[in-house]
Amino acid sequence: MAGLIPENILEDILGKVDIAEVIAGYIPLKRSGKNFKACCPFHHEKTPSFMVSTDRQIYHCFGCGESGNAFKFLMRYERMEFPEAVEVLAKKVGVCLPKNDFRGESPNGATSQLFKINELAQNFYSSNLNLAEASGARDYLYKRGIKQETITELKIGLAINKWDSLINYLRAKSTSLGLLDKVGLVVAKDDGGYYDRFRNRIIFPILDIKDRVLGFGARVLDDSLPKYLNSPETAIYTKGKHLYGLNFAKDSIKEDDFVAVVEGYMDFLIPYQDGVKNIVASLGTALTSEQARLLKRYTHNVVMVYDADSAGELATLRSLDIFIEEEMNVRIVSLPKGFDPDLFVRKHGIDAFREKINNAQNIFDYKLGVLKNRYNAKEIEGRAKISALMLDTISKFKNAILRSEYLKKLAQDLNVKEEALIEELAKVKTDKGYTTQVIPPPKRISSINPTEKLLMSLMLEENSLIGRIKESLDAKDFQDERIAKVVSIMFELVEQGKQVAPQILMNHLGDDISELVCESVFLPQTLTDDHKEKVVDDCIQRMKSNSVKLERERLHEQIKVAQHKGDHERLALLTEEFHCLIKKRTDKL
Ligand code: UTP
Ligand code: MN
Repeated sequence: MAGLIPENILEDILGKVDIAEVIAGYIPLKRSGKNFKACCPFHHEKTPSFMVSTDRQIYHCFGCGESGNAFKFLMRYERMEFPEAVEVLAKKVGVCLPKNDFRGESPNGATSQLFKINELAQNFYSSNLNLAEASGARDYLYKRGIKQETITELKIGLAINKWDSLINYLRAKSTSLGLLDKVGLVVAKDDGGYYDRFRNRIIFPILDIKDRVLGFGARVLDDSLPKYLNSPETAIYTKGKHLYGLNFAKDSIKEDDFVAVVEGYMDFLIPYQDGVKNIVASLGTALTSEQARLLKRYTHNVVMVYDADSAGELATLRSLDIFIEEEMNVRIVSLPKGFDPDLFVRKHGIDAFREKINNAQNIFDYKLGVLKNRYNAKEIEGRAKISALMLDTISKFKNAILRSEYLKKLAQDLNVKEEALIEELAKVKTDKGYTTQVIPPPKRISSINPTEKLLMSLMLEENSLIGRIKESLDAKDFQDERIAKVVSIMFELVEQGKQVAPQILMNHLGDDISELVCESVFLPQTLTDDHKEKVVDDCIQRMKSNSVKLERERLHEQIKVAQHKGDHERLALLTEEFHCLIKKRTDKL
């Protein structure tokens, strides 16, 4: 994909961007010599092994091996695609990307056209609220306690009671009906033609974290059904991939280091309006792991707020496991019967709501409570059923200490033997292929020939050495194929008269090789400049004599085989080759 964006533009962006500044926008960095360090955002750790170099403009984690340049960081941390990461950083440093956009997302590109149409529609719906005929809708919103400033901030609007008002408005702006259909704003009639999807409804635009309009939710003004109509899935809107309100809440979520997740638009809106700003809505469906990971960018702590009905459902319980799998902390609030967050805040006030959140139950206690309501813990079968369902959750904890503590707690609470639970837990895991799964240990750099490694880091550190080494060695003289690959690219870049910065090299390398480059950049370099040349010469000699040695061993093996087979012709050839090799060697020395 990198190939589609001109190389010189990538280099231009990387040359202007400061990786430490980019990363510091997401996680706190501490200075450590001329580098920065932090606890790695890509795996769980208590002491920092994540390093950022401003000199070399790369990052590397010695704990998990995650490494790369500024593009890669955004791709990993923000889960962006490469072109998106390029676009973000280009904008940040003021580099213009070429007009014939590589993503097909130029102002005329398909998806940006859809966003544009949604934005026009959103503005249209907003302005409808000022019409004389909108007085009923305005009354409805005020009756529900929604203030004007909230209407403005959340861009709430109105679809009036006509079949074609949006169509006419957008047609006048020369938008094609085909595109309106694609973005889900109109519905095709059986006998041809289209009508507005949303009519006589309050409109809630659904925005992504970049404030782009993905789609809409639309509520009736009375008791008719369906209560909400939503945009269908389109090229720009996938249900279960976004969270309503995250664009408004993300800064507060980060600051407070937790998020309250509610179910509906109104459940978001009322607490948000009254000051609980770290809140998002799942829009009535079970959370997906994609949504959990989206939240994880801002916090690891989630409080799910359910009304009493949803809270008691087994489906609700299952969806909580997603957070455990993502190694996030999840707590649960179950509101009194008949209340959702909207009603609760309006009846009891925002402070009572805050207190509910502060006293949220941990997932273990909550789930056990629900299960004990559902099954009879006084009977053996009941206890077995409860245990099985609790073990499902316990098995999801990646941390062994948490697993064993919860097992102990469960055994005590249900008055069953801990050993029996351990036995059952083992079954749950093998069912999922969990414990039997063998993960190959990562190939660490330390297992690589130290001479090859040293030469590579010296070349990375001091580009002028590349030419010197290139005169004496071929890339294929390097036995480790990953190093050979890096060296061959370095040689090629030098040949083209280009600079060989690690962060640029990165664009040409796969993950495993880029890890190798990044790690070597952070290994302490203690050589002085005049010492370096001597070291390089020594390394070259060692590599050469090593490659002669390997060649000799290879020939030796082949000679033995030829002797064994009595292949005299081949034996003569090989012996000749062997003598040449020895002669070459003595010539050199
Ligand atoms: P609720 O029925 O709890 O609605 O559905 P609500 O948000 O409390 O709405 P009010 O207070 O009656 O106005 C929760 C969410 O489920 C989705 C919506 O996202 C809603 O906010 N939903 C519900 C639909 O998509 N369609 C429906 O018909 C009902
Ligand atoms: Mn409600």
